Amino acid sequence: MLSTCLIFSVLASGASAATASTSNSKSNPHLVTYPSILNVLPEPFERPTFITNLFYQTTLPDNAPPAFAAAYDQLLNSSFISFDPRFETEVIGPATGPVERVAIIEDGSQEMPMFLKNEGVIFWSGDDLHQFRTIDVKTFEVKNYTTSVPVPNAAAGTIHKGQIYLGNFGDESVHGGIWLLDFKSRNATMILNNQLGLSIGADDMTADDRGGIFFTDTPSRVARTGRKMQSPPALYYLRLSTMSLIAVDTNLVGPNGVALSPDGKELYVNDNGDTSNDPNDVNAQVLTAPKLNSTVFINSAGARTIYAYTLSSKTGLPVSRRTVAVAEAGFVDGMKVSSTGLIFVAVYGGVDVYDPDGTRLGRINIPDASPNGKAEEKHVVNIVFEGNNLWCFAYGGVYRVANLLVKGDPRLA
Ligand SMILES: *[C@@H]1O[C@H](CO)[C@@H](O)[C@H](O)[C@H]1NC(C)=O
Ligand SMILES: *[C@@H]1O[C@H](CO)[C@@H](O)[C@H](O)[C@H]1NC(C)=O
Ligand SMILES: *[C@@H]1O[C@H](CO)[C@@H](O)[C@H](O)[C@H]1NC(C)=O
Ligand SMILES: *[C@@H]1O[C@H](CO)[C@@H](O)[C@H](O)[C@H]1NC(C)=O
Repeated sequence: MLSTCLIFSVLASGASAATASTSNSKSNPHLVTYPSILNVLPEPFERPTFITNLFYQTTLPDNAPPAFAAAYDQLLNSSFISFDPRFETEVIGPATGPVERVAIIEDGSQEMPMFLKNEGVIFWSGDDLHQFRTIDVKTFEVKNYTTSVPVPNAAAGTIHKGQIYLGNFGDESVHGGIWLLDFKSRNATMILNNQLGLSIGADDMTADDRGGIFFTDTPSRVARTGRKMQSPPALYYLRLSTMSLIAVDTNLVGPNGVALSPDGKELYVNDNGDTSNDPNDVNAQVLTAPKLNSTVFINSAGARTIYAYTLSSKTGLPVSRRTVAVAEAGFVDGMKVSSTGLIFVAVYGGVDVYDPDGTRLGRINIPDASPNGKAEEKHVVNIVFEGNNLWCFAYGGVYRVANLLVKGDPRLA
């Protein structure tokens, strides 16, 4: 299956319904503006299943005016959904997209994608974090990649001054931690596997310009390792020169994605709350990862929140935290920041784009991220920029959006 390379446009509809905003010749044919009629929905409306019903799958009454269903249809069929005019002027140009599925890979979580410019590939951890892979950015050929020693449940990765750092959860027999990888020689060397004897793991990470790595340690590693958390879920900073491990914020429940603003002044971290225990709530939804053989609980009233930390210009460490945004469904996962400072976050059904002030600019829409319609596969796990292209790694496959108006953070190249 991996050698099979499938390229086709997922969402090619450029049809415009009566509810569409007026388009001009310069606008993107795959983009639709969120219609203002949807600001007041006819009663009774409901989004009964919080995970599998995205915002354009809200249930409306049978006698709702047809314009509502037409508007939802159009949103479902569009590669790009604009909530703010800046989405069209700053992110999605006339030649952007549509969303293309470049590989079908239905084997669970796909994490830590990194663009390795010199190799012309994106390197990631697939097969539910059990098999490193590369995809050629030109030919879309997928290959397995094996490290000198196993790095079980590798979930985090970042590039710092040309050097690849990995973070993993470990498994039943070995602890997780932080690694250095020489890609060419495949030499993987562990540089940290404990916090004074206590277990540690990394779910996502990003390096700063001061020689340190921010990473999240989260209870989602418990199900994958059979190993209990011995410290609170937290955002950590590892200063590489001294190997000082600093607990930066323990006021997080299920921390996940981490990204730095290009100017290094803000750090973005998201939190999914408690996904390990059934909230026993009518709004709770259950997401079962097939390979993982475990269950992720999503509580619609729980956290799926992006926070921004203001970093001290003196220490580079957080001095305050504010809320940026709450995702519309499912949970928030990998994040990347564009060179222009916009936050891109992988979510259930696509990628959301926010201004750091919290304004939702738009959605890169991947409603059919599962080729076989499996609900759990619609989650986009992580994303990476390759020049002006954004690569999206979902449970069900790899997707690409070409020719965005923005590039990624040059720090990660
Ligand atoms: C959306 O796609 C569906 C299925 O391909 C199609 O039946 C419908 O006409 C499309 N709607 C719009 C508004 O393009
Ligand atoms: C790649 O890795 C997967 C998962 O470990 C394995 O099932 C598959 O056979 C491998 N493919 C090749 C070509 O080695
Ligand atoms: C692997 O990398 C580590 C860290 O850079 C280095 O100390 C070690 O000598 C390397 N091993 C080999 C076999 O090259
Ligand atoms: C999955 O979990 C079930 C129930 O806990 C267990 O019976 C089964 O053996 C597990 N399967 C694998 C492959 O671990």
